[in-house]
Amino acid sequence: MADTLLKNISDLSQQLNTKNIAEGLALLAKQFPSQVTFSTSFSFEDQVIAHEILSNHLNISIFTLDTGRLFAETYSVWNSTNERYQTKIDAYYPQNISIEKFIASKGPNSFYESIDNRKECCHIRKVEPLKRALASNAVWVTGLRAEHSAARKDLQIVEWDESNQIIKYNPLLLWSTEQINEHIHQYNIPYNSLHDKGFVSIGCAPCTRAIKAGEDFRAGRWWWEDASKKECGLHGK
Ligand code: ADX
Ligand code: SF4
Repeated sequence: MADTLLKNISDLSQQLNTKNIAEGLALLAKQFPSQVTFSTSFSFEDQVIAHEILSNHLNISIFTLDTGRLFAETYSVWNSTNERYQTKIDAYYPQNISIEKFIASKGPNSFYESIDNRKECCHIRKVEPLKRALASNAVWVTGLRAEHSAARKDLQIVEWDESNQIIKYNPLLLWSTEQINEHIHQYNIPYNSLHDKGFVSIGCAPCTRAIKAGEDFRAGRWWWEDASKKECGLHGK
């Protein structure tokens, strides 16, 4: 990383590490006008961030990656979020040619057959559309939390995303599950009804299941794979 970039990231970290989420988002919106974007999967975490952006009318765009394989409940919370905040959240879709070729050669559920197939599906449905969504932005806001997994414990609130060449801001990194739940209920924020049925981390329907008490936060994602492989490429690996 170039020295100036390193210095800018470190200055930004210093400023943002002492701010609460509303102040942090407002500072970025002011410092990078129309160049801050937030990716939402409509998870509990993402709904907290969306609430801060939309209720404070911040100049931060919001998008979701509609993989085509989301739960019906996810479309419902997307719709109720649009209604509650009088907005229309943008959506990015897989390239039709890529997905048509992939399905023609491997079938609709090939992700269960091998990690390579699963990664290819995630690449076509999430990673490539993400690159288009982030293009021309300077800052990417996410709902990543350290409690999610061992790998996420090493993340920083502000960091440089080498693969997408963008500053990443993870404002909820150090929040606990209890803090997230309290915030959702305190502000009566719409949330995915699957959270009331044992689902914690929610992605695509065929690759997500509910978890039992005592299981890891991400145990319901790609549950048939080795725990160390459980990233889809949005956040590295
Ligand atoms: S994933 O890499 O395993 O799929 P996870 O579901 O934990 O990610 O979500 C972490 C963050 O990634 C979310 O807070 C959100 O910023 C982003 N994200 C994940 N899935 C999507 C999606 N379908 N659309 C937009 N952003 C997403
Ligand atoms: Fe495909 Fe499953 Fe990845 Fe969704 S989570 S993009 S269905 S492999």
